[in-house]
Amino acid sequence: MYTFTDKGNRSITLKPEGTSPVVRAFTEHKLYAGVQPNKFYYNIPCFRYEKPQSGRLREFHQFGIETFGTMDMMADAECISLGYDFLQEMGITDVELRINSVGCPECRKKHREALREFLKPKYDELCDTCKDRFDRNPMRIIDCKSPICQELVAGAPMMIDYLCDDCRDAFEQLKANLNAMGIEYVVDPGIVRGLDYYTNTVFEAVPVDDEGQQATLFGGGQYDGLVNSFNGPDYAGVGFGMGIERLINLSVEQNGICPVKRTSDVYIISLGDVNDYSLKIAERLRDNKIVTALDLSARSLKAQFKSSDRLQSRVIVIVGEDEKTNNTAVIKDTEKKEHFNVNFDEVVNKVKEILGE
Ligand code: HAM
Repeated sequence: MYTFTDKGNRSITLKPEGTSPVVRAFTEHKLYAGVQPNKFYYNIPCFRYEKPQSGRLREFHQFGIETFGTMDMMADAECISLGYDFLQEMGITDVELRINSVGCPECRKKHREALREFLKPKYDELCDTCKDRFDRNPMRIIDCKSPICQELVAGAPMMIDYLCDDCRDAFEQLKANLNAMGIEYVVDPGIVRGLDYYTNTVFEAVPVDDEGQQATLFGGGQYDGLVNSFNGPDYAGVGFGMGIERLINLSVEQNGICPVKRTSDVYIISLGDVNDYSLKIAERLRDNKIVTALDLSARSLKAQFKSSDRLQSRVIVIVGEDEKTNNTAVIKDTEKKEHFNVNFDEVVNKVKEILGE
């Protein structure tokens, strides 16, 4: 946690993640009383007091989704597929989707005992954090990044071998759903996740050449009990959080650039004393929900073409003094390299036709 004392001597903790605030809002506003399931997304800054290193920042951004109100593994599969499809859409490849089950509090109790038994003789060699985890939540020791702790947990009992019948059935159901969706995954019994609220499903999407770089792109799972701990009903939730900075880093690494969607459909190039006419055309296009940009500082023709290139505008509208006098415009389809001369009233339709709308 990023905790500090402010000038008013108050202890302040900055938000480390998105799930708990969403659960808090869900229960505070009694959204559980409406039709279920409820689905949410967020795109937020987060803060964690970590040793800063590549891909591990003290301030970072998370995009996340949460679904409440169903225990069915269809929701877990849908959630995983959304993250997976998003990476595909971004052109990110060589990412491994790893899944595991951390069971329910009942079966976890048995695993915890077995794990403590296994680790007891090695206790003194554990790092200080893991000594603390030994009592609180020994499963997290499996996830410790310290090479010494990693060696100590080799051969340790794994949660997946301690699942009760219901939890095992749920995990099988999840795998069947992912198979049906054609989503490739590996079962990794070592995934326990860094947050304590998970039950059953846990998953992470990790670059294949991660080699302990801790560059997990998104991670999440099911949490049956968190809503209840905020004084809500017994509602399960499932979701994931995706690190935006890591996503950008990997996209730049793999594709050389972060793919950006076209940021304007139309760029209006103005030649001469025609600013009022250009603004009139921009207004008409924007009224029709066409994303439009135009030069705002009477720059050279070359500079204006450069801007339209940078914005990857599909259509360029060129207006000079003749066009203004005749109430017309020249429209350029940048892909087909075609030009059209149209009246002011036809501009919107011609642009829509080129954009395929
Ligand atoms: P998390 O694994 O702690 O899960 O974080 C989710 C993602 O945030 C990570 O996979 C990573 O991409 C990014 N991330 C985490 N810490 C840092 C950091 N220090 N610097 C840069 N990126 C970071 C959660 O936060 C859960 N709330 C996810 C979830 C949603 N589980 C259920 N619903």
